[in-house]
Amino acid sequence: MHKLMNIHHREGRILTSLLLFLTLLPLSASAQTITGKYQIPAMPDWAKNAVFYQIYPQTFCDSDGDGIGDIQGIISKLDYVKSLGVDAIWFNPFFDSPFNDAGYDIRDYYKIAPRYGTNDDARQLFEEAHKRGMHVIFDYVISYTAIDHPWFVASQKQEKNKYSNYYIWTETNWVDPPFEFAGQFVKGYGQRNGQFMRNFYWCQPALNFGFANPDPNQKWQLPTDHPDVLAMREDLKDVLRFWMDMGADGFRADMAGALVKTRRVRGNEQFFNTNENATKLFWREIRQLLEKEYPRGFMVAEWSYPADALDNCFHVDFFHWFKGYNDLFQKESWRILNGVSEGHSYFDAEGKGSVTDFLSSYMDQYQKTLGKGYISLPLGNHDNARLGNRRTDKELEIIYAFGFTMPGVPFLYYGNEIGMRQLPNDWPQVEGAYQPRNGARTPMQWSSDKNLGFSTADAASLYLPVDPAPDAPNVAAQEKDPNSLLNKTRKLIALRHTEPALANYAEFVPVCEGYPFVYARAADSHVVLVMLNPKAEAADATFSVNVKYKKTRLLMGDNFKMEHNKKAGTMTVHMPPTSYAIVKLIK
Ligand code: GLC
Repeated sequence: MHKLMNIHHREGRILTSLLLFLTLLPLSASAQTITGKYQIPAMPDWAKNAVFYQIYPQTFCDSDGDGIGDIQGIISKLDYVKSLGVDAIWFNPFFDSPFNDAGYDIRDYYKIAPRYGTNDDARQLFEEAHKRGMHVIFDYVISYTAIDHPWFVASQKQEKNKYSNYYIWTETNWVDPPFEFAGQFVKGYGQRNGQFMRNFYWCQPALNFGFANPDPNQKWQLPTDHPDVLAMREDLKDVLRFWMDMGADGFRADMAGALVKTRRVRGNEQFFNTNENATKLFWREIRQLLEKEYPRGFMVAEWSYPADALDNCFHVDFFHWFKGYNDLFQKESWRILNGVSEGHSYFDAEGKGSVTDFLSSYMDQYQKTLGKGYISLPLGNHDNARLGNRRTDKELEIIYAFGFTMPGVPFLYYGNEIGMRQLPNDWPQVEGAYQPRNGARTPMQWSSDKNLGFSTADAASLYLPVDPAPDAPNVAAQEKDPNSLLNKTRKLIALRHTEPALANYAEFVPVCEGYPFVYARAADSHVVLVMLNPKAEAADATFSVNVKYKKTRLLMGDNFKMEHNKKAGTMTVHMPPTSYAIVKLIK
């Protein structure tokens, strides 16, 4: 038997009402029990309830007028970043690079790219962030290097040397590697008689973490404990120490699942899930290194398979390279713009989407990782189209209401707080930013001044053009409007920090799928219900949950109506078109 949860509403206002001795009812099949129990995963204290902001260095703020963002520019905007209420920042790569993949292709792990500044600037950036009480993580890109990294330059030489085995080379240029590796090797590059394995673009040669199950007939497949493989790994650990010593508080690991190779997965799958323990074992070593040498160190994975990533390895895994993420935000081909999806996003005014597939994948991973680490559903990033792809500010606010009330660590992509829009596909596809990435990496819009306040350079020399729309959103204008998306975003972040039931670790219980999508968050006796109706039509939901409470308080969102169906022991909420409500149940 369960106590009925109820919310009373009259004349468009949420009224608090005393509910006495509510009918006790069994839960419907879909309703689940809210316990208020939670476990905080082991991690540095500062990160337990952290919210992150993602900064793309190229396009955040240009301090020297060369058309490209830089570290001094970022430092000049740290007060703004702090004003959002975030606790930490993740920077995309800022290392020396030939920029074939926008800096992910690292040429020198120990040097800031001159276009962004110097190592001293980076040190200052970490210090300035810390002064403001924020933490900083960098992009640790170690599944491959740039094609002109000195290790690879040495590795491709005919003469055997220290670096020959730092990358994965077959024994001859003429015989292709076994079919399971089809498409992953590059032929005819360099002096050495062999083909090298790439990760991602052809010019990103895979570092050699060894093979989980080397084929005895393919001698070039080295075991994971080969001395050269171990030496390479030690070199990468030193890279980590270098940036932690400089002041970083941790890292985001690019393509975290793509280290150790295996015959058991094909093509792109190798990037996400090795189906082996071997990659995990490496990350566990790194976790131990941090715990021992840098206890403040925080590890975030780009793996998208939390069950593996959070298995004593990372503290957080980005869960966005899976179908369910697209179901939420970018199911339409015109929205995802990568040619491989068709359908309807759940967060779309048409209201033709579904959260069902998302929820089943999410709950599977959530249950497998409870108490072990956090799942992050990023609010945009540099690899996807902007969430503001033909969406209004109100529609974005509903998405952010979701993002900032779900469990795990929220990551907000720069500019999304003001509703920056996805820009046209036919814009320059600079530095490997093929659509939709180019349209999502455009300069931050600070004001209505020249280049929207991003840079004093000529428009023609900007890294990417700025949004030319006369009504392009900007920070300065939104600062003045208490109801702007910027200020709503701040309120949502603040609410996450002040409301115990919305903490990163608080319990998550889906209550109703569909329009509206209703779920509960709970911590001890604190219970919050989140109701989302992104559809441009009113939507109702009838449900029951097992929480007894005396009154309700609308923490944020829109007014809605509620009926208490005493006989059935359920409640019905009527959500207006394009609305949401975050409601606390006061016991
Ligand atoms: C990750 C990065 C992406 C990069 C790729 C190769 O997915 O987020 O921007 O191109 O890895 O490193």
